[in-house]
Amino acid sequence: MWQVRVRQFDDVLEVAAGDTILEAALDLGHDYPHTCMGGTCGACKTLLISGEVDMKPYAHFALTDAERAAGYILACRALPLADCAVAIADGSEETLNPGAPA
Ligand code: FES
Repeated sequence: MWQVRVRQFDDVLEVAAGDTILEAALDLGHDYPHTCMGGTCGACKTLLISGEVDMKPYAHFALTDAERAAGYILACRALPLADCAVAIADGSEETLNPGAPA
């Protein structure tokens, strides 16, 4: 069980082994952006601020290699491997410029 802090939410997600960040968020009733839940639409794009995830297979048009290298993940494909902090890619300055000082 890993704890995942989502910048936009007040509570902390408890993510069981084998569950994705999106599944844990939806189980708690959060309005986490998503559509396909299969790694093909990109709606759940999220910035991984800290921690580590394993990514289940996804379409590279939904998350490009450059985006992955910049720290983005797809919440519907992301299996936490440690406690994590993330931010839904909502167009905010923080999620548009992940390397910029806060
Ligand atoms: S919900 Fe479509 S890529 Fe995650």
